[in-house]
Amino acid sequence: MKKIAVFTSGGDAPGMNACIRAVVRTGLYFGMEVYGVYRGYEGLIKDDFEKLASKSVSNIIQKGGTFLHSARSERFRTKEGRALAYKNLTARGIDGIVAIGGDGTFTGANVFMNEYPDISIVGCPGTIDNDLFGTDYTIGYLTAVNTAMNAIDNIKDTAGAHDRLFFVEVMGRDAGFIALRSGIATGAEAIMVPETSTDKAVLMEFLENNYQKKKSSGIVIVAEGDESGGAKELAEMVQEKYPKYDIRVTILGHVQRGGRPTCLERVNASRMGLEAVKALMNGQKGVMIGMVNAQITYTPFNKATKHHLDVNKSLLEMVEILS
Ligand code: F6P
Repeated sequence: MKKIAVFTSGGDAPGMNACIRAVVRTGLYFGMEVYGVYRGYEGLIKDDFEKLASKSVSNIIQKGGTFLHSARSERFRTKEGRALAYKNLTARGIDGIVAIGGDGTFTGANVFMNEYPDISIVGCPGTIDNDLFGTDYTIGYLTAVNTAMNAIDNIKDTAGAHDRLFFVEVMGRDAGFIALRSGIATGAEAIMVPETSTDKAVLMEFLENNYQKKKSSGIVIVAEGDESGGAKELAEMVQEKYPKYDIRVTILGHVQRGGRPTCLERVNASRMGLEAVKALMNGQKGVMIGMVNAQITYTPFNKATKHHLDVNKSLLEMVEILS
């Protein structure tokens, strides 16, 4: 393999830059030409490629976002869009791709490789949600959970000062990893995640018996994908039942997607980028690089995206005991 491309796709995540840098420098180290593609699959279709040198990725390891930009491409869902992408790749003689992204990225990669088997794609998991099977950790998650934790710490200060109950919504469309970890780390009173059904009656009882008697302020963490509808809906329901509570809602939103990646994030993202290039060199395709117990793993795309990842039930139990 002599020419490879790298892109980021889907929601950006801190650490993506470190991963791109590793892909570029590993490719160059092994004598390849490396192309960056701007805005993921959109760039493949629009022929938005740039040949990268080692210097192109200098001074990006510490930055959030992605210097290659990211997008979710509707056109890549069509046969015509994928045909254009193939034409642009083959015109340059590129036959290997490192795709950094989440489930949508890998689903698209699978469809593409079925149509064009002469192109090999290896993935690196890039999403703050940590919702891919086959890895303990996705690029962006460690930083996002720390960002959420720091923000919730701040909220706790003001909650205590005013004896208020806060409902804080964190990101996680289908997964409660950010909610669970940031909630435990901040000593939240309750944590609502999509993986378990929210028993509203239990929450009410807890708030009445526990929070009201023992505490003057409190924090309930709600993952955005929780079936309750989110922090606002849950807060309204509680407020209606207990008008005496002084309730506020904070939705952390995209603040969790940015920021400087943590140390471990940079190291892990670099390692996965390097391993992705090595995997391509060894003839692998259609797999996502992962890390399980600090060891590198290879998970087929359809397994990485389709298998449901359970939240750690013992952590949920811990919340009950410690709150
Ligand atoms: O998948 C990452 C994520 O941040 C989710 O947690 C969130 O639901 C979604 O992306 C938001 O996407 P967008 O930036 O397109 O609004």
